[in-house]
Amino acid sequence: MKILILGGGNMGLTYAQSFLRSRIVTSDQMMVLCRTYEKANQLSATHEGRFFSDPRLCVSEADLCILAVKPQDAAKLFDEIRDLVEPGQVFISIMAGVRLETIMQALGVQKVIRAMPNLPAQIGAGVTAFTSSDMVTRIELVMVQNLLSTTGKTVYVEQESQIDAATAISGSGPAYVYFFMNAMIEAAKSMGFSASEAELLVSQTFTGAVDLYNKSDLSCENWIAKVASKGGTTEAALRVFNAENLHEGIIEGAQAARRRAVELGK
Ligand SMILES: NC(=O)c1ccc[n+]([C@@H]2O[C@H](COP(=O)([O-])OP(=O)(O)OC[C@H]3O[C@@H](n4cnc5c(N)ncnc54)[C@H](OP(=O)(O)O)[C@@H]3O)[C@@H](O)[C@H]2O)c1
Repeated sequence: MKILILGGGNMGLTYAQSFLRSRIVTSDQMMVLCRTYEKANQLSATHEGRFFSDPRLCVSEADLCILAVKPQDAAKLFDEIRDLVEPGQVFISIMAGVRLETIMQALGVQKVIRAMPNLPAQIGAGVTAFTSSDMVTRIELVMVQNLLSTTGKTVYVEQESQIDAATAISGSGPAYVYFFMNAMIEAAKSMGFSASEAELLVSQTFTGAVDLYNKSDLSCENWIAKVASKGGTTEAALRVFNAENLHEGIIEGAQAARRRAVELGK
């Protein structure tokens, strides 16, 4: 199977490297279309795979195409490749907010998957929500799931609207985690720890807490109750968090992200 990634940026190269590492494709079967000749040249000197800047030399050769440009560059890309695509090709779009229908109409294709990965995909620890147009077969869907799984876990959603919801939870989610970590690092430094000590204390606390959660059947509430003994230090912190409505604030923040994802898709 020949795969073409359209857009050799952060996510595009993450996928190319993941597919090669998992031996899903050989270097000869992995193609990447860049915007400029210089970029294609530069990447072919440092990365495995075949790099192009002329869509006429690669688009029709691919069995599967991954749309990995920024949403604002999509219309121009569609203009460049519309006359080159083949009806049987499967398209996976990872572009935030760009609807299945928009892609199908713009390219005149029917087999389209829309996927929302997140940043930890870069280290194989991502999570990707994906959905598909009706014409994608079960076999093609399994193949796509195998491809997406090379960057972490996957969740198939029936409704396309759930991709906007996943954007607000797992797509933007890493930034929420870093926001919380940042505040804890600040707190640690204000208590006299050096920057590196503060970062270690906080990042290992996150890693350990999440690993523990993943290895058990307990809910977050159960684990909070295990840490927070009555009248103790954790309870003192949680009382302040609750007084500040932190829980509701996070839910409202995620809902705002979802509304923005819907707006951007219009
Ligand atoms: N980063 C994330 O965490 C994340 C998460 C989920 C989804 N996404 C989605 O992934 C997509 C890519 O994001 P990114 O962070 O990888 O962006 P990026 O690093 O800017 O990569 C986009 C690449 O597309 C290239 N490009 C633009 N127009 C092109 C064209 N007509 N033909 C060929 N290549 C073209 C750009 O080239 P130049 O640099 O030369 O302009 C750039 O290398 C976005 O749609 C985003 O919504 C990203």
